[in-house]
Amino acid sequence: MIDDVKDLSRVEKAKQLARKEFTNYLGKTFIAVIVASVAVTVFALFIVNRFLNAFTAERALITTGLFVSSLVIFLLLQIGVYKYTKQNGSSIRDFWLTTIMTIITFIATMAACTLLDNVYAMPIAIATLVLIELIDRRTATLATAVLCVLMMVFFLFSDGTKVFDIPVVLSAIVCNCMCAVLINFLEHKHYSRLKFLIAAMLTPLAMQPLVVTLTLAHSDISITILWNVVWCYGANVAAALVFMPLVAIFEGMFNIADDFRLNELCNLSNPLLKRLASEAPGTFNHSLVVGNLAEACASAIGENPNMARCAAYYHDIGKLKAPIYFSENQSSYNPHDELIPEVSVSMITSHTLFGEILAKQNRLPKEIVAICREHHGTSPVGYFYRKALTLKEEGDLAVDKYTYAGPKPQTKIAAIIMVADTIEAAMRAYMPDTREEYEARINKLVDEKLELRQFDECPITMGDIAIIKQTIIEVLPSIHHSRINYDKKRKSSK
Ligand SMILES: [Fe+2]
Ligand SMILES: [Fe+2]
Repeated sequence: MIDDVKDLSRVEKAKQLARKEFTNYLGKTFIAVIVASVAVTVFALFIVNRFLNAFTAERALITTGLFVSSLVIFLLLQIGVYKYTKQNGSSIRDFWLTTIMTIITFIATMAACTLLDNVYAMPIAIATLVLIELIDRRTATLATAVLCVLMMVFFLFSDGTKVFDIPVVLSAIVCNCMCAVLINFLEHKHYSRLKFLIAAMLTPLAMQPLVVTLTLAHSDISITILWNVVWCYGANVAAALVFMPLVAIFEGMFNIADDFRLNELCNLSNPLLKRLASEAPGTFNHSLVVGNLAEACASAIGENPNMARCAAYYHDIGKLKAPIYFSENQSSYNPHDELIPEVSVSMITSHTLFGEILAKQNRLPKEIVAICREHHGTSPVGYFYRKALTLKEEGDLAVDKYTYAGPKPQTKIAAIIMVADTIEAAMRAYMPDTREEYEARINKLVDEKLELRQFDECPITMGDIAIIKQTIIEVLPSIHHSRINYDKKRKSSK
């Protein structure tokens, strides 16, 4: 009964929190909805060259209709983006980005149609391509759908219908939207830049038979067929060409960790990694090994391997503040010999906080900043706790003063880094001779983290943890070039 009441209050609290988050999101993005609706309406009026007439008595109704329709469309986009991105904790950023890309693509499409005097010249795929890379496939689909509706509203409300017939306009919208959907279906955000570009340029070819068929369906058998094909293909190729600079601009502006950026950050000539290599070589080598382990684990459980590798490379940058206090950077001199355990442990545990500060100063993506802080969770520093216990003459010693400040890992990748980091550090200190002992040690290290409830705040499952353990068991010996004695295992198993 008490448990039921507790569960109910927990559910109610979660609902309240969700409502608060949604209200906060609506408040912080409503200005974007207004700005987008005004921008679309003003541009629509400007492009059909009747801006000055827009507020006359006879036009006021059409202008209002255009604004209200845009407002409703962007409000729906606002709710849709929240639904798709609330798990990432970046809904506000993602909505702003989606809105900006929708406006840019709308303006580019309207300008292209009007200037080229061909309604098939619709580079709708600009938004699709950028959003697949910077957010995800579902948000890209949503933006494409919004653009289709916006085009239809624009042509229905504006004088554009005097220039283009509505059936021709609808055919052009269908062709270009299907092209964007096909690109969305075939592109993959883990593609290299060249592969992404080639796929974006080749995919529109598949839609050209539809362009020919729809043009013929309008009883147009003139040279228009050729122009429609040329402009439909040309618009989508143009979208592929402007995609790269737009991604570069927006990944920097919104500090987004897409795969292109993660690969750049993993480049060992990056200034922060170069500093780590020269000032804390032991930590640098440890981070590279953790990177290999984390990448393999992330692939094994369906997480982003590039993010895992990148997070591992930077997880210990906080040690740059005082590298000599960490065992991997010591040779003969150990400064902890001259310090009391309380001071030693504060030097050790503060590297997560310094890491977070340094990562923010270097504008690393927020996912990596969080992992710098979370990768030890609230684990105790066992060595110094035991040392303090031996020095204490009587009574108990609170373990709280000897633990990391947390928070615990909040994502699956943070949990992977925690496991890989712990195992790598332990195995670097001592690599068992036999396979049995090696596996038992890894199981023990992970079990300790489970007993300390370090994975309680992230969505990782026991199945994921089993896969991560197995992956590390297989991969680590090859990275360390260790020779585990299988003969001993066979003998002992006889
Ligand atoms: Fe660390
Ligand atoms: Fe580490």
